[in-house]
Amino acid sequence: MTSHKIALIPGDGIGVDVTDATMQVLNAAGARFGFSLETETFPWSCEYYLETGAMMPADGIETLRTFDSIYLGAVGWPDTVPDSVSLHGLLLPIRKAFTQYANIRPHRLLAGVEGPLKAEGFDILCIRENTEGEYSGAGGRVHMGQDNEVATEVAVFTRKGVERIIRFGFEQAMQRRKHLTSVTKSNAQKYSMVFWDEVTREVAKEYPEVTVSHMHIDAMCAKMVMNPADLDVIVASNLFGDILTDLGAAIQGGLGFAASANICPDEGTPSMFEPVHGSAPDIAGKNIANPIAAIWSGAMMLEHLGETEAAAAILTAIEAATAQGVGTRPGASTTEDITKAVLAALEA
Ligand code: NAD
Ligand code: IPM
Ligand code: MN
Repeated sequence: MTSHKIALIPGDGIGVDVTDATMQVLNAAGARFGFSLETETFPWSCEYYLETGAMMPADGIETLRTFDSIYLGAVGWPDTVPDSVSLHGLLLPIRKAFTQYANIRPHRLLAGVEGPLKAEGFDILCIRENTEGEYSGAGGRVHMGQDNEVATEVAVFTRKGVERIIRFGFEQAMQRRKHLTSVTKSNAQKYSMVFWDEVTREVAKEYPEVTVSHMHIDAMCAKMVMNPADLDVIVASNLFGDILTDLGAAIQGGLGFAASANICPDEGTPSMFEPVHGSAPDIAGKNIANPIAAIWSGAMMLEHLGETEAAAAILTAIEAATAQGVGTRPGASTTEDITKAVLAALEA
């Protein structure tokens, strides 16, 4: 029997609940489709930080390197540990260390889910650059606390980094409806975003079958609300992709529906799978977090590991549950109810 070695990082808040729900579903899929998941759970979280002074051990990245994939719930508990410490101590270094440059985030309405828009029938794949750009970590503060204080946050865009994410976007578009929209702010940001536009035009020459649109981030926000069905693949920088994918989640019916995969396409290092949402301190410990985004992210992990049939069966099971109204309205079903409904549909 095939076995896949998975590192589990449940993290904080609802990350723990949705990881538990996801593993129940993935293990059930393994039993049905003849594979097993050999998991090791790492307690790396804000609580771990308060106990040890670090979000993960010094050799954390080296430990993770030996796994086939990483599954992460959510990280962050801003009441006790600043986000700038927790996220820069765990999630962001993993994405960078393993060159998980392609963050794939699908947005579509699941059966039975009523989104907030009149528009229906959209099916968007957001490809977010995941290792550089506005998240480079470069910058600093001078004259701290004084009237002349200055803070900088430097967005770093490399030719290698931009080219590979644009090319990844085109490859995805070729497997879909062959339309790609590149999102920038090249009317205001005259270096990085003009460069991004140029690289997009160069790479586009390799994909004559794909139609390309260039949009500014502000206009794209409006379009995602007004005419999302016009969109197919979106390629965006790290920060713009982050913002657009919470908007994408909203038009899907909420953050409980938005899945995400941090893929390393080139270097043989592990990819990481996690829902788009965070640790949701406002609903943590209440058994009302929607685990669908997390379970869907787990299905993306199985697909990445070659368990294509199991991944498709989980998606079908999720939609069988939502089609019956389970998990479609915030707070109406518990985390447990939704997990059970997905499990029942998977085993039916
Ligand atoms: P959030 O995504 O945690 O929550 C935003 C809102 O969406 C909240 O009202 C929350 O209750 C709701 N929500 C989120 N997931 C839900 C689900 N599965 N079911 C039902 N409702 C859900 O964003 P936030 O409040 O800005 O962040 C909270 C913490 O999580 C912060 O520390 C933040 O930095 C962190 N964060 C981590 C990740 C990650 O680990 N990938 C992602 C985003 C935010
Ligand atoms: C996400 C999150 C992270 C990001 C935060 C928590 C650093 O919002 O995965 O969307 O901005 O990448
Ligand atoms: Mn985000």
